[in-house]
Amino acid sequence: MAREGKPFACLTCYDATTARWLAKAGVHILLVGDTAAEMILGFTRTIDMPLEVAIALTAGVKRGAPDVMVMADMPFMSYQADPGEAIKNAGRFMTEGLADIVKIEADATFAPLLERMTRAGVPVCGHVGSRPQLAALSGGYTGAGRTPREADQIVADAVALERAGCVMLLIEAVPEELTQRVIEATTVPVIGIGAGPAPHGQVLVLHDLLGMSETPPRFAEPVAQLGAQLQAAGAEWVRRVSERRIGGSGGGHRDVTPGNSTGIRTPSAGEQNTGTHSPSSAKDHASPIQRQQ
Ligand code: KIV
Repeated sequence: MAREGKPFACLTCYDATTARWLAKAGVHILLVGDTAAEMILGFTRTIDMPLEVAIALTAGVKRGAPDVMVMADMPFMSYQADPGEAIKNAGRFMTEGLADIVKIEADATFAPLLERMTRAGVPVCGHVGSRPQLAALSGGYTGAGRTPREADQIVADAVALERAGCVMLLIEAVPEELTQRVIEATTVPVIGIGAGPAPHGQVLVLHDLLGMSETPPRFAEPVAQLGAQLQAAGAEWVRRVSERRIGGSGGGHRDVTPGNSTGIRTPSAGEQNTGTHSPSSAKDHASPIQRQQ
């Protein structure tokens, strides 16, 4: 698409169900970002993203959207400390995580690692500009490339990363003129976030787009208010439960058997009209809110 001059759309995604819907929406790349640390796990920093969780989430996204390109964000310290470890971890994202491409936050000093990753057969997207995994050094989640020296360095980083084998670049939170310079200095598709309209592709954190983030970045314009809708849906459920306004009883469990597009499983004879998932297990897993006799 980038070659044809058509912009492509990327979004972060962290689970199979959301991936399925975003695939139906026609989103071109799903990024399993280390922002999952914040959006999914409730940390305040992306550097807290555990590697094992990132791999598992990536596989879930790919299972939900097998036909969409899935990019796995390599977490903090999964690629910085040791090149051998980095290549093995990237390989895990591709085999266990089913990722099509991995992303690392990098500058020109990562070129030797990127050459090795490329030689090993790992497609890599190099993330330049503002690099949130460096927040402890750079004084928080800040913009980048504001001084001429910093801007020149970012252009040099992008060029070095492409030369080292990166098949894609992502540029975060830089002035539009700098994005333009990076696009002109490189030949691979460039994805932007908070970097102006010029890049070949654009990415946003899904929760920012959906209106679910309490403090979205200034450049993220929400297109929905799902946070408020989720709250309203939860409140409606609370109301229905308190008023005993619960519809239906009996079977109708979810069925994830391939080929069953309804998702509803017909109950077997022994399960008819029990109204519970499993009578014995329901008893075994007594709720913290004890049932009144
Ligand atoms: O982790 C992430 O979600 C990202 C995007 C903000 C680009 O890297």
